[in-house]
Amino acid sequence: MKLNILANKQEVAVAFSEYLKEKIEASKGALHVALSGGSTPKAIFDYMAENYKTSIEWNKLHLYWGDERCVLPTNAESNYKMTVDHLLSKIDFPEANIHRVHGENTPADEAVAYGEVLDKNLGKVNDIPQFDIVILGMGDDGHTASIFPHEINLWESANNCEVAVHPESGQKRITITGKIINNAKEVAFLITGAGKAPKVKEIINKVGDYTSYPATLVAPTSENLLWLLDKDAAKGIQ
Ligand code: 6PG
Repeated sequence: MKLNILANKQEVAVAFSEYLKEKIEASKGALHVALSGGSTPKAIFDYMAENYKTSIEWNKLHLYWGDERCVLPTNAESNYKMTVDHLLSKIDFPEANIHRVHGENTPADEAVAYGEVLDKNLGKVNDIPQFDIVILGMGDDGHTASIFPHEINLWESANNCEVAVHPESGQKRITITGKIINNAKEVAFLITGAGKAPKVKEIINKVGDYTSYPATLVAPTSENLLWLLDKDAAKGIQ
């Protein structure tokens, strides 16, 4: 695991954008990337739209979502909509390379359907679909993708995707599972904000209730795990 601590969220966005640009440039063929939602990716998308509008071969990228809220794609809660608003609407990106979760569908049906999209579109390693890069965030409660502590059992699902329920709002979400996350070639964990510091401290130091946090389970077989933190999130481990 590689751990980089940057000054703030914007610096995390810059660092990850540079990392992604290098991966895209180094890739001979298509690069299949699973995006996360939340505020950190928003800063990354704004930065990339501003600085790499024409200097990246966007058509090499295929975009998926590691988790999505079960809402219409036009709903402010939609991770897809956030990505369109902050990135896809500002660059020339091939529609055919956008593989969104259909949050408007019946959750149980969409978990199966999206799992089939991964089976169909991605190469397989150990008979499991393999993303080139999975981008993850971590919630203040230690959730990642949309696997929350109260449903940590979803991590071990034999399925590619599951229906998760947000512990406070009850909102249903589609999430990829641990087998997909830990089968990725690379995982980039983008964690920013003081609210994450207690869980980051427990997870990195393997103390307290760290085993009850889904974020603890992120350990790709490839061992290509990059933690990009801002100082606020890292204050318990410095
Ligand atoms: C979501 C995200 C979620 C996010 C974390 C961290 O759909 O809400 O995928 O898992 O990554 O909540 O979000 P921040 O980047 O805003 O801290």
